[in-house]
Amino acid sequence: MKSAAALLLLTLAQSTSAFTTVRQQRVGGSVWGISSGPIDSSLSAKNIIIAGAPASGKGTQCEVIIKNLGVVHLSTGDMLRAAVAAETEVGKMAKDFMDSGKLVPDEIIIGIIKDRLRESDCQENGWLLDGFPRTQAQAKALADAGVSADCFIFLDVPDEMLVERVVGRRTDPITGKIYHMTFSPPEDEEILNRLERRSDDTEEKVKVRLEQFHANIDAVKDSYTDIMVSIDGSRAPTEVSSEVLKTINRMRTHQRRKALVGCLR
Ligand code: AP5
Repeated sequence: MKSAAALLLLTLAQSTSAFTTVRQQRVGGSVWGISSGPIDSSLSAKNIIIAGAPASGKGTQCEVIIKNLGVVHLSTGDMLRAAVAAETEVGKMAKDFMDSGKLVPDEIIIGIIKDRLRESDCQENGWLLDGFPRTQAQAKALADAGVSADCFIFLDVPDEMLVERVVGRRTDPITGKIYHMTFSPPEDEEILNRLERRSDDTEEKVKVRLEQFHANIDAVKDSYTDIMVSIDGSRAPTEVSSEVLKTINRMRTHQRRKALVGCLR
């Protein structure tokens, strides 16, 4: 038992030094040109939850995480919007809630996510949950299904910054890339001309979305106190990304140490 633990310790030490080398050699490889360098996906936490208020930057940071880790991105907002556009049964049920800025009922969304997490790509590559769980019932449903995350990242942004982010947001329907007309404008006119605005991205609707967020977020955070890291999301996207990636790496090392201690017991 002890020799297995020693081997694990050696592997951990080698992994940490390998990560340092990777960071030193490869700088600025992400979509935001992050100076801390990309994460070696073999060393990173694989099951991640990202949470935060509407327009706190979850989708923006997910682009960076996916690019660096290769995990499967599961955005409940994107899934629901696709269902609405395709006029599926789920889409028809969700549409009115989404149009008014309210959360769709737990029973609609929980089943979809639980089924998706069981699929082989999530099992093999790890997953990144964006916008789920959003209520205590959703967090409990994940726990009851035996689904656990390595890291819960909370993007902390004051409400007063969020309205400006919401009204300026545009999405490229071809690449899925998220832009902001002031903070992250499109690269050229061709992209500018095809950008789309979400129907719930209005000042009026974001107020309802924020109310829903504040009514639920404390209970969700309480479900993840041992793996939660709060990150100041009010800074420039590159600064936020840099801390997000460092946090994921730190949590991964932490998880491996915990596994080692478990092995020694
Ligand atoms: P969803 O699509 O998940 O919306 P949301 O949570 O309100 O989050 P957003 O997508 O608006 O914002 P974001 O945090 O991803 O920010 P982004 O990176 O785009 O959900 C939509 C609806 O679906 C819900 O209202 C609900 O009805 C339903 N729903 C979804 N999940 C559900 C669930 N689990 N249960 C029940 N109902 C559910 O950034 C925003 C803008 O800011 C962009 O323009 C970006 O360029 C800019 N930006 C990003 N970061 C920065 C930065 N650091 N500085 C300056 N600008 C920045």
